[in-house]
Amino acid sequence: MPSVLTGVKVALFLVSVLFRYSTSLLPLPHVINPILELPNEYQSNFVDITQKYGYYAEEHTVTTEDGYLLTLHRLRNTTCQWLSRPALLMHGLLLSSDTWLDSGPRDGLPYLFADTCYDLWLGNFRGNYLGRQHVRLNPDTDVEFWDFSYDDMGLYDLPAIIDYVLQETGDQKLNYIGYSQGGGTFAIMCSERPEYRLKVSSFVGLAPAITMKYTRSLVYRYFAGTLARFWKETKTLGIYEVLYKGSLIQRGTEAICGAPGKIHKLCLGALSFIDDYDPGSIEPDTVRSMYTHLPAGTSVKNFVKYSQAMEQGTFQKFDYGKSRNLIVYGNETAPFYDLSYLDMPSLLVTGKSDNIVDIRDVTLVHKQLKKSHLFVVKNEKWNHFDVPYSSFTPELVFPAVHRHLQRHGTQ
Ligand SMILES: *[C@@H]1O[C@H](CO)[C@@H](O)[C@H](O)[C@H]1NC(C)=O
Ligand SMILES: *[C@@H]1O[C@H](CO)[C@@H](O)[C@H](O)[C@H]1NC(C)=O
Repeated sequence: MPSVLTGVKVALFLVSVLFRYSTSLLPLPHVINPILELPNEYQSNFVDITQKYGYYAEEHTVTTEDGYLLTLHRLRNTTCQWLSRPALLMHGLLLSSDTWLDSGPRDGLPYLFADTCYDLWLGNFRGNYLGRQHVRLNPDTDVEFWDFSYDDMGLYDLPAIIDYVLQETGDQKLNYIGYSQGGGTFAIMCSERPEYRLKVSSFVGLAPAITMKYTRSLVYRYFAGTLARFWKETKTLGIYEVLYKGSLIQRGTEAICGAPGKIHKLCLGALSFIDDYDPGSIEPDTVRSMYTHLPAGTSVKNFVKYSQAMEQGTFQKFDYGKSRNLIVYGNETAPFYDLSYLDMPSLLVTGKSDNIVDIRDVTLVHKQLKKSHLFVVKNEKWNHFDVPYSSFTPELVFPAVHRHLQRHGTQ
């Protein structure tokens, strides 16, 4: 068995290498998109898509303390006479603010928030295609650009985005809704910058990736684990960015899964290989548009950090190994984050079939929080990919989130 596992790991590593060099080798999008006549919507941006459905949207750019330039979107339903306190929605690993639009105006969370008259803001973390710019560093040539994990997103990205939203709106506080990585980074911000808790009324964690001890997805574990194991080699090969928009895997799936007909079943199958399958949950049209920006890219180091979180089962900073930890942290052990700082009214939403952020992890986190409510989605097959993509969101998730924000979101 060990040799088979090693083989799988080496294979995944080779595939990840391929991703990096693919775009220059294969002019896939230019050849394939016109042949398949991909609908325009699949290539347009956040503002174009939402305007088409009659919504008002804006695009902003936030600069973090350490120089990353992050795109921030704002969405509003113009029929609203008043707007409730701003809400900030943050995406998960390998996703972007565009991801939330894929399930369309009936089911997509942004539209549900906008129609309930929230002033909704949607951010992007460093390293995806909407956070791939820097005031000084060039992501294509400066490897320093990619020297980050989700530790840095919690420490720098979220404070910068929150300050920006509060400055633009003139509000004192906002409500924070974070999916997966968007939840874990929020817990990091609370621990590292406790003063920011005063700027948040309430927190909603949708499958929040805070601890990942019980992650069941073997594909995800092996992929992250392989990058962690061969981290040094990836650097030697000049690989710092993985699974980005424009890579072979993204262009290929975009072309294949965007096609009309029954092919979407195959593309859903690919997702259930990583997570679980919830019949009838993700609509064919959602599948056709989601791969236009999935995967959205991140750093190898970020995956290494996720691998550490799964291996260690703890909530602590990036582990560089004893000697380097001593230099970076002044201790051989990477410091632990303190969950007691996540003390605002919180709603943790989880599902029984989530193989990426397991219900057991979310339950353990819930027990450590002071003012937390655990909400288990009433669908046995609810999994990680259902959060942004499911057509059941309006019935199964949004009402609980809205209730929580109505009760706690104005304090
Ligand atoms: C905005 O909200 C109103 C009232 O809830 C709703 O009728 C309308 O469909 C929504 N969407 C747009 C684009 O106005
Ligand atoms: C080093 O880390 C360990 C484990 O978190 C902790 O118990 C210890 O107090 C730390 N030492 C110093 C000097 O901070």
